[in-house]
This record gives sequence, C-alpha cells and structure tokens, in this order.
Amino acid sequence: MTLTVRTAGEEATRAAGYALAEVLRAGDTLLLFGDLGAGKTALVKGIARGLGVSEPITSPTFNILLVHPGRIPLYHIDLYRLDQASQLEDIDYFGTLEAGGVTAVEWGDRFAQAAPPDHLGVSIAILGDTIREITLVPVGPRGTALAGQWLEACRSIPGLEIAR
Ligand SMILES: Nc1ncnc2c1ncn2[C@@H]1O[C@H](COP(=O)(O)OP(=O)(O)OP(=O)(O)O)[C@@H](O)[C@H]1O
Ligand SMILES: [Mg+2]
Repeated sequence: MTLTVRTAGEEATRAAGYALAEVLRAGDTLLLFGDLGAGKTALVKGIARGLGVSEPITSPTFNILLVHPGRIPLYHIDLYRLDQASQLEDIDYFGTLEAGGVTAVEWGDRFAQAAPPDHLGVSIAILGDTIREITLVPVGPRGTALAGQWLEACRSIPGLEIAR
C-alpha cells in the first residue's frame, strides 16, 4: 500500500489536512515530524478548518499547547521547545491525549514516550521550494485505518499527487 503523497504548494497541504479532518474522530492522535518549515503547521491549519475551528491557527511553539473549539476540539501541541520527557507531565500531555479531542503534535518524534500506542505519524520532507513529500506512518489499528481513509480522501485534491 502506498503511504506517500506529494504536494505542490501550501494550499495543497492544507487541502490534505482538510481531507484528513473528514475522517478524524474524537480521541485520534497525529504525530507530525519534519524539519523547520516543512509544513506541519500548514497541515494543522487545514485540519482545523475541516474540524470546524473558526479561530486562526498559530504555531504553538511558545505556548506549547493551544486548544481550539470545533466540531471536535483540536489540541495543537508543539514539543520543539521541550528539553526533557518529564516536561510532558507539566503540560498534561497524556491527559490531553485522553481528553476527547483530536490531538496534533508538532515535533511528535521528540520523545519516544510521547507516542501513544495507537496513532498516525505524518512525516513531511522538503523536496523543493514548494514541493513536500508527506509519508504516513500508521501505528496500531486506528492509525492504520486513518491512513487508508485519508489516502482515499486525498484522491481528488488539486496539486496533490499520490506517489507510486
Ligand atoms: N507544499 C507545501 N506544503 C506546505 N507548506 C509549504 C509548501 N510549499 C511551501 N510551503 C511553505 O513552507 C512553510 C511551512 O511552514 P510551517 O510553519 O507550516 O512549517 P512547520 O513544519 O510547522 O515548521 P516549524 O517546525 O517551524 O513549526 C510555509 O511558509 C509555506 O508557505
Ligand atoms: Mg509549526
């Protein structure tokens, strides 16, 4: 099964996020990986719009956790500035994962402990100025189901190519 898509421009990455939101359920966790400027926040902007979040999405780099009310609440976390795994407790990271929303974690690969047993990993690589390669890394049954449904929902997005 192909688990990689390429987007040509931020708009296509946002559209992929919007498509993902349609298959997300309360309790789902997304761990987002990729270099600075890869497009993790861009993807979350699309997810937020798809979840019916009306307030603007900003990067939670300094706040660490931002809560956005929507059709399903969105918990947007950025682990970039955390130095040690013990700080996950300080922000109630594990409580947030269980709080009945969708949790999207930028730099979600920073600490091994941050990965819940069932989640969808999303790795974004910079291929060029406007080209990004998005690789789905499903873990557990829910992560696997989400990956399949997301790819299906990505089929007709302009500027998005499903790699083969
Ligand atoms: N195909 C693309 N998908 C997403 N963003 C793109 C794409 N092409 C260009 N960009 C640009 O790349 C940047 C992505 O920034 P974004 O803040 O989403 O990255 P990030 O991965 O969240 O970085 P950080 O680690 O700093 O939080 C934006 O300036 C966006 O316009
Ligand atoms: Mg970001």
